[in-house]
Order: sequence, then C-alpha cells, then structure tokens
Amino acid sequence: MPESAPKQAARGVVTDNLVSLQSFILEEEARYPGATGEFSWIISAISLAAKIIAYKVRHVRLQNVLGEQGEENIQGESQLRMDVIANEVIMRVLGGRSSIAVLGSEEDQEPTILRRGHEGGKYCVLFDPLDGSSNLDTAVGVGTIFTILRNDPTIHDAVGTVCQPGTQQVAAGYVLYGSSTVLVITTGRGVHMFELDAAIGSFMLVKRDIRMPARNKVYSVNEAYTPGFPAGYRRYLEWAHENGYSSRYIGSMVADMHRTLVNGGVFLYPPTKKHPTGKLRLLYEANPMSFLVEQAGGTSTTGTVRTMDVKPRELHERTPLVLGSKDEVAAVLAHFRSPADAMA
Ligand code: AHG
Ligand code: MN
Ligand code: MN
Repeated sequence: MPESAPKQAARGVVTDNLVSLQSFILEEEARYPGATGEFSWIISAISLAAKIIAYKVRHVRLQNVLGEQGEENIQGESQLRMDVIANEVIMRVLGGRSSIAVLGSEEDQEPTILRRGHEGGKYCVLFDPLDGSSNLDTAVGVGTIFTILRNDPTIHDAVGTVCQPGTQQVAAGYVLYGSSTVLVITTGRGVHMFELDAAIGSFMLVKRDIRMPARNKVYSVNEAYTPGFPAGYRRYLEWAHENGYSSRYIGSMVADMHRTLVNGGVFLYPPTKKHPTGKLRLLYEANPMSFLVEQAGGTSTTGTVRTMDVKPRELHERTPLVLGSKDEVAAVLAHFRSPADAMA
C-alpha cells in the first residue's frame, strides 16, 4: 500500500503541487466566465515591481541608495531615496498595463490618470511603495502595500474615482521584504501567501487560505504615545498589562501586520497628540490590511466603525486603526464606553 500523504508530510516530503503566483491568479480568474485576463496582468506587474524593489532593498548600501531625497512628500514627511525609487519602479511597471485607469501613491500628491474607461481602463491601483522605509538604515523589514479597485468610467476626476470604501476592493495585499520576501494577497476568496524564490525569480505558493487565530494575547502599538491616546485605549492597555499580554512592535506596519496575521493578536494605531485622526492612511494602508484581516477571519475598526465602511474624501486621508484577531479587537472595543473614548 502506498504511504499516505500525512505520513509523507511527516517525513518532510512535499506532497503539494508547486504553484507560482502567476498560475494561481490565472486559476482564480478562470473561475469567472468571460474574464479577460487583464486582472492577472496587473498582479504580474505588481510581482515584477516587488522583485525589483526586493533586490534594491537587499542591497541598499552596496547600491548607495540609503538616505534622504531632500524633499517632502504630500504628508509633510521627508522622502527617502528608496521611497522615491520604489515609487518610480511601481509607476513604470504598472504604467505599461493597458487595463489600469488610475494610479495613486503615498508619494504623489494627486492620483495619476493613465487612461479613461472608454480606453480600456478597467482598474485603479493604489499603493504605499515602501512602508516603514525609515527602518531601512537598520536593516529591519519593510514592505509594499497595494489595493486594486474598479474604475467607474462615469466619474471623471481622479480623486473621486479612487475614493471608494474598502468594501469595494477587488484585491489587496502586501509584500514583506523581511528575512524572506513574502507576498500575501486576497481577491476576496481567502488569503494566500507566496514566498519569493529569487533563484528562479518566482513567488511560489507556501500557504493557502490563512486563518487568523481568534485570540492571542499580543498587542502591537507604539506605547510611548500612551499619554496622548484617547481614554478607551489607555484603559485597554492597563487591562492588558494586568492580564498577561505581551507586546511586539517593529514600527513597520507590514511587518507588524504580517506577524499579527500569522500568529494572531491586535495591531493598533490610535489617535495621538501629533496625529489626532490617526497616522495611517485609509486608502492604501488601512483598507488593504483590513480586507486581508477580514478575509482571514479577523476584524478591523477605526474605533467607531468598520474600517472598510468609511467613505473616503481624499487620497491621503488618515484614520485611527485597530485590527487583528476577532476576540482581541473585541477586547479593545470593550474598553470604549462611548464614541468619545475612541477619539482624541
Ligand atoms: P511609511 O514608512 O509608509 O510612512 O509608514 C510608516 C508607518 C507604518 O509603517 C508604521 O506602522 C508607523 O508608521 C510607525 O509609526 P510610529 O513611528 O509613529 O510608531
Ligand atoms: Mn506606510
Ligand atoms: Mn511609505
């Protein structure tokens, strides 16, 4: 009798078929009758950009691309050379895909219109080209965050086009340039993880349908800002200290969220004195992460409403954010007695 698959797996034998990101997306697309393949072209562009950025990030010193660009972006934050390079890479790679109507980036003030709906522009892509870039100096994990939206050809201004609530995302994901390079994506049917095999140049499927544990006593927040947090957050942290919680904070959202997605726990960026409406950007940081977390069985809230229900008003809008394991997010919210407890 042949050895069973679980027994083979116990011996370390790989029993699954090898699946690349490319073939995974083609397979997904084939489920939709009439699909044109345009969507998979966009994912292949994102994966190409990620490979180029991964290469740069892994050689920042040798390539002499550390340090400041000498300019500020629209957020008033000083741009690093790698922020600008990562942005350019994504713009150049996505710019050539004929199904993209509008591109929006953390590093650019306005969204860029590439083509109108009647010219075939079916989708919009919004992204944070390099998240956590201030950590590059110390070789800490950084990431790229992206989301894909439908383009409504009846809306003519670019900002109006991309200001869609998170519930309308077609796909979202991130790439973590950590000790390994992983790409995590959802198209609304679960969350899947791919690891970059640099030798063959492909992202390969390593985990299908990631489910977050419902609880894990870990919170991830910049605790130094506690005195400026609204009362509900301060009460939660006191409670967590008394109830055996651990703290983990890297300061790169992608790295902190990847750990939270895999191990469970809760990630928080509350309103602070410096950022009374939160620091993280709704459209290209909070919403893509919220889509992934919900698809993995977790929850995401702004402290007052479901994050993905917020109707955005501008590309660079910020939001407070609490997301992660279902029970851990509920434990945070249990300390908010009124909406004022969630606000600065
Ligand atoms: P970015 O590098 O794209 O500007 O984002 C930085 C963000 C995010 O990665 C992280 O969670 C957060 O800033 C950390 O902020 P604090 O240093 O205030 O904790
Ligand atoms: Mn960021
Ligand atoms: Mn960034």
